[in-house]
Amino acid sequence: MTQCSVFRQIQAISPQPIAPTYTLCVSISPTNPSSAKTSDSGLPEPITLKTLKRMKRQGEPFACLACYDATTARWLERAGVHLLLAGDSAAQVILGHDRTIDMPIDFAIEITAAIKRGAPHTLIMADMPFMSYHTSLETAMTNAARFMTQGCADVIKLETDETFAPLVDRMTRAGVPICAHIGCKPQSSSVTGGPIAAGRTATQLDQLVRDAIVLEQSGAVLILIEAVPEEATQAVMAAVSVPVIGIGAGSACDGQILVVNDLLGLTDEPPRFAQAVDSFGNRLKEAGQQWVTRVSNRSIGGQAYSMRPGESEKIQSKSNTATPIDR
Ligand code: KIV
Repeated sequence: MTQCSVFRQIQAISPQPIAPTYTLCVSISPTNPSSAKTSDSGLPEPITLKTLKRMKRQGEPFACLACYDATTARWLERAGVHLLLAGDSAAQVILGHDRTIDMPIDFAIEITAAIKRGAPHTLIMADMPFMSYHTSLETAMTNAARFMTQGCADVIKLETDETFAPLVDRMTRAGVPICAHIGCKPQSSSVTGGPIAAGRTATQLDQLVRDAIVLEQSGAVLILIEAVPEEATQAVMAAVSVPVIGIGAGSACDGQILVVNDLLGLTDEPPRFAQAVDSFGNRLKEAGQQWVTRVSNRSIGGQAYSMRPGESEKIQSKSNTATPIDR
């Protein structure tokens, strides 16, 4: 039984609702997406941390994407994507802000649960937003609990360096699996004056390796490394044993992640490392244009509703018997 279904059961027997805003993690996905591996029972095998570890051992790269809603998650699960991130990039991609630090925590939890409902057999990682894990250990723990229970997250990602070791240790001991995001950290962009690549000098590379080692020792189950040269990635990979996910970190990583909008060609100015596989932006524009044309031609398509048998005649006879005043 998953943590979320346990939570639902507790809620069902509780005389008082535990928290009125808690979301139910009910799947809207088909029970057996064609691309998912099936177990002996014929049910799709869920992707877990064990799956990623096995893939790392076998040298099989795994695919991850940041996405933000149940429908997209459903299709990406059907595509065989192994891990979906409810990224704080939603602040930019969905809410139209310039920075990830504008991500509201309630929205982050909602989209995490939505993605889990859309892709129940995929490993779902949630980004804890800016300042939701920095002000005190207690607040960080309470917020992490919300992501695990309300958000139904399987893993939580924190933007970190070695100074976050005590927090990672405490969360891990409390049962929260942590992905330590190192390298370029978009939540710190205000300090650096914008997103900048990391690990480009020997000193920076040493720091990156130290961060990765300390965070793994503190319990991190995954490392995510952003915007670093291949040399830095290789040094980190050699230093840790947990799976390493890269974004703009070369091809050596165990897993690769991108923002789905960048992959689809929906982003006007994508980052240099993101190569789109399609130009959905243009396709969306064309679809919108076709709709404008259909509407203006009064040929909207689809199936019209019809009156129930015999009802049209009643309207007809009513209008025939109406007095001039009625008319
Ligand atoms: O929020 C995000 O999109 C990320 C990236 C690493 C994919 O954190």
